[in-house]
Amino acid sequence: MLLCHLLLLAIKFEPKSILTASNWLNRLMLKHHRGYSEADLVEVIVAAKERRDVLPCKYAGTCGGCQWQHFDYEKQLSLKAEHLKRAFLYGSRPLLHMIPFDSPERSPLQTSYRTKLTPHFEIKKDQSSVPAIGFQIKGRRNILDIEECVLATPAVNEGYQKERERVAETYSRYPRGATLIIRESLADDESITTITNHKAQVTQKVGNIKFQYPSGSFFQINGSILPRLTEYVMDEIKSAPGLTQPPRFLLDVYCGSGLFTVACSSAFERVVGVDVSDQSISCAGQNATINGLTNCSFKLGNAEIIFDGLDFKGEDTAVIIDPPRKGCSQDFIRQLIEFGPSVIVYVSCNPFSQAQDLLQLLSLCGGAAAQEAIGSLPLNGSVLSHQEILDMAPDYVSPAEVVDEQKWESFSKTADKAFVSQYKKYLVPPPDSSAFTYRIVKAKPFDMFPQTKHIESLLTLVKVPIQQPLIE
Ligand SMILES: C[S@@+](CC[C@H](N)C(=O)[O-])C[C@H]1O[C@@H](n2cnc3c(N)ncnc32)[C@H](O)[C@@H]1O
Repeated sequence: MLLCHLLLLAIKFEPKSILTASNWLNRLMLKHHRGYSEADLVEVIVAAKERRDVLPCKYAGTCGGCQWQHFDYEKQLSLKAEHLKRAFLYGSRPLLHMIPFDSPERSPLQTSYRTKLTPHFEIKKDQSSVPAIGFQIKGRRNILDIEECVLATPAVNEGYQKERERVAETYSRYPRGATLIIRESLADDESITTITNHKAQVTQKVGNIKFQYPSGSFFQINGSILPRLTEYVMDEIKSAPGLTQPPRFLLDVYCGSGLFTVACSSAFERVVGVDVSDQSISCAGQNATINGLTNCSFKLGNAEIIFDGLDFKGEDTAVIIDPPRKGCSQDFIRQLIEFGPSVIVYVSCNPFSQAQDLLQLLSLCGGAAAQEAIGSLPLNGSVLSHQEILDMAPDYVSPAEVVDEQKWESFSKTADKAFVSQYKKYLVPPPDSSAFTYRIVKAKPFDMFPQTKHIESLLTLVKVPIQQPLIE
């Protein structure tokens, strides 16, 4: 149906050309994925009621940076909520009925929120004029010249203007081109400035907490939502339903420059962070120091080394997990379940890999019988390989692909009922008295990236004895 529609549009676009159907489609298709393809928009025949006439950015539709500007913000949020459900549908379908999906957290700023831009330029052979400086054209490799980005903060756009002027004068010194960086930072007197050197130190405040990190290293780019994000993580840990006592210790796995470690430390006796980047670990230590914290320590290495020589007990400990797009290693998940923390908050920029990690995590809990139950269930081909997940996310969810709310409701009422009853059967009687599993308390999208299809997903899990029903 979609292909026929595209073909009709293509013919409308170039009526006099004589081309076969497959030629038409190949000319229009930008990317082929497993089970679907992406195409250029040729014409809007009937506009959706949520489609905006006036877009925030003059490059919308051509620039590859923002995909969802043509939707009003409410529609973007509802699509992101669907996106999250889809991710769990594909990545952990057997658990779908146990996941309470919460409404998306809005970004306080929906434009002018990016504290970092990384525009590029390319130098072609015999380049004799100022190259295009900006971002890739949607679906293509060429760079679109962008004078300013509506997602960037005013300071970052100002810094970008200066960088554009500098490149216009010096581009011949770059044999192939370069990726620029412009990052908002606080000067010593706390006035806002920008940094354009990848190695220079950025200073940023999240609420009253000060963070410093090298400009080229990872730090969340939407400063407007960060106080709410760290506050939410703290609240989830402290007030998770079913906790008999608040955890005394915190492990911050994939801690980066210590955003969660430092922001949450006041609620714990001791906090330990781990990250594979030595630069991040040294910043995390400094960030604890400049904020006067003495209960934080950091380990350099793969996530799983956090458990080496750890003298905390699982039942006294909360764990925050914030891995890169590919999710957690199997070894880490196995050791996490052996450790058995009382509460887990899993922060993810790729809900597809998060969903699959969740399935793995729960299948390792609950003693042999429950594991066998999950392992033996037919998954109807819905669980994908790690590579397939990386390939499909986040491109998989395009507005056209997203199921509407009504369809979702009817699906979630009927699907996987068989699984639920089978799973319950294995939970009673308990395989042994010490067996435990995790109740999925909440899955919540955080809109860290307004105007784009990207989404941050926060999952809260609380340890429960296996006797407690997992499904209300
Ligand atoms: C999404 S960032 C999160 C950083 C931090 N939580 C924050 O919000 O600023 C993921 C972090 O995981 C780290 N990382 C990647 N692979 C890792 C691994 N195998 N073990 C530990 N850390 C890893 C990266 O260096 C990066 O700092």
